[in-house]
Amino acid sequence: SQNPAPSKCVGPEYRSSNEKPTATVSTEVSYENVHILPQTPQLIALLTMIRDKNTNRADFIFYSNRIIRLLVEEGLNHLPVVEHTIKTPVGRSYSGVKFEGKICGVSIMRAGESMEQALRECCRSVRIGKILIQRDEETAKPKLFYEKLPEDVAERWVLLLDPMLATGGSALMAVDVLKSKGVPEDHILFLNLIASPEGAQNFAAKFPKLRVVTAFVDQGLDEKNYIVPGLGDFGDRFYTM
Ligand code: URA
Repeated sequence: SQNPAPSKCVGPEYRSSNEKPTATVSTEVSYENVHILPQTPQLIALLTMIRDKNTNRADFIFYSNRIIRLLVEEGLNHLPVVEHTIKTPVGRSYSGVKFEGKICGVSIMRAGESMEQALRECCRSVRIGKILIQRDEETAKPKLFYEKLPEDVAERWVLLLDPMLATGGSALMAVDVLKSKGVPEDHILFLNLIASPEGAQNFAAKFPKLRVVTAFVDQGLDEKNYIVPGLGDFGDRFYTM
């Protein structure tokens, strides 16, 4: 399955289009619960680095971490805040907001673990759970092999971490696991680097109250269910190549 690749002039609005280069940008989707990061020159340059097959492992990690940081920062904007007024050192008051509620991260192993560091950098001493789902050799269906979640996960907002959303099989099963532990669907935020259109659609259709924050919706999947144009196997490139 392949969508035509949308291309757009990339750069700030105040520049005319002949001053801006053209690049392939994210496919747009019409699901209210799927949020795509703004297609800024920085984001497109970072994605270009990690998609490049000639990018070495150290650079792949560095530039992936920058994108993941953007995803975490945007994801946190979807959590509730309450009014909070403080006094500044010069004796004035400032009416601001503060976070309300407890959060935790849940990474889908192995690739999702690459997103834990950025979450820790943004949320001090955040609890992080793990879920391992792999394809069952006999049935070829995703199977839950392992889960370790905070005991009070049902009372927390959950940031579910997985960089690549291909068919969505593992991520959908991970959400089923979280819901079976009592986490309300609308307290789950799925953070993702690159999604396929079918993965995004499967998610939006099955869990309309869950929010997806992704950096990019790509063109489609190839016959091996790799995302295209994609970046190959994220876990291999982050952990081993
Ligand atoms: N997982 C990956 O690492 N890459 C893909 O393209 C799809 C799933």
